Amino acid sequence: MKRTVSVAPMMDCTDRHDRFFLRLLSKNVMLYSEMVATKSAIHGDRKKILAYSPEEKPLALQVGGSDKKELSEVAKIAEDMGYDEININLGCPSKKVQKNMFGACLMREPNLVSECIYEMINSCNIPVTAKTRIGFDDTEDFDYLNTFILKMKEAGCRTFILHARKAILKGLTPKQNLNIPKLNYEMVYKIKEENQDLEIIINGGISKIDEIKKHLNVCNGVMIGRSIYQNPYFLVDIEKEIFNVKNNPSREDVVKELLKYLEKEVKVGTKVNHIMRHTVGLYHGQIGSKNWKRYLSENMMARDSDFQKAKHIMSVVQNNEKVNQVNV
Ligand SMILES: Cc1cc2nc3c(=O)[nH]c(=O)nc-3n(C[C@H](O)[C@H](O)[C@H](O)COP(=O)(O)O)c2cc1C
Repeated sequence: MKRTVSVAPMMDCTDRHDRFFLRLLSKNVMLYSEMVATKSAIHGDRKKILAYSPEEKPLALQVGGSDKKELSEVAKIAEDMGYDEININLGCPSKKVQKNMFGACLMREPNLVSECIYEMINSCNIPVTAKTRIGFDDTEDFDYLNTFILKMKEAGCRTFILHARKAILKGLTPKQNLNIPKLNYEMVYKIKEENQDLEIIINGGISKIDEIKKHLNVCNGVMIGRSIYQNPYFLVDIEKEIFNVKNNPSREDVVKELLKYLEKEVKVGTKVNHIMRHTVGLYHGQIGSKNWKRYLSENMMARDSDFQKAKHIMSVVQNNEKVNQVNV
């Protein structure tokens, strides 16, 4: 499994339509689902919650929970459904998630986490990985984090995604928790140096190719969230600069392919806006970005947007391609 670069799990963002779109831009990155609570995965409408297109692979399912039995059941479901990895969320600080005893508050419960991971590993043959913060509240301590990781290692986990900032469990909103606690990449580097046998993926605030290269000198991989969601074509730079891929799709190629997917999906009842909302940032930093966003918001963002409007989108795309070529 190649986790050199992955796109972070993001609720309300990395759903299956977004992942299909991102995969058109990059064949080499690893993709993650939004977090799915164990109970929803077990009792909910699996077709709606867990289904994906084969094109999205390699793909990991991220799960939230702290009940060993449920987590192991979901690990098996993930394997049966063809997911390539199951990842446990140990980093989300939201109140609702804490109330249900999953996410970042589990950093306080290393023994429980270790038992959960052990059960998950025993119930499936796909990799079980963990995504966590580097600390919580007043605890931002190398020994604590390292002991926590070693506990998970004892249970059989080999891959750790470390969001390089702590979580504040009381007093900050989830959004503030993504910005206010300071990034501490050194802590992640130290964990890697101390644990050469583990796969350590660094996450948090990474938005440039140079930064990716710098982190890859120390860590096994980088995970990127917001900078890719806001600027999805960044994935093409990653393909070029990190994976040395020469023939990458233009934005026009991507929209053409996405329209084929849109047409297919609309026929089975998917709403146009559920797919197109993820493409708002496609022209990020380009001439024509405003025209693109305006076209989307006027024609394709309403709940009842008509697929016929999508057909005209190519004229906006072709126009944008032209102006950007002139200005290269
Ligand atoms: C809108 C949004 C939703 C998120 N949802 C999840 C989630 O479901 N599971 C998770 O582990 N992290 C979630 N995160 C955190 C990201 O995975 C990532 O750790 C964080 O954004 C830091 O990376 P970045 O600076 O590259 O965005 C979310 C972040 C954002 C912005």
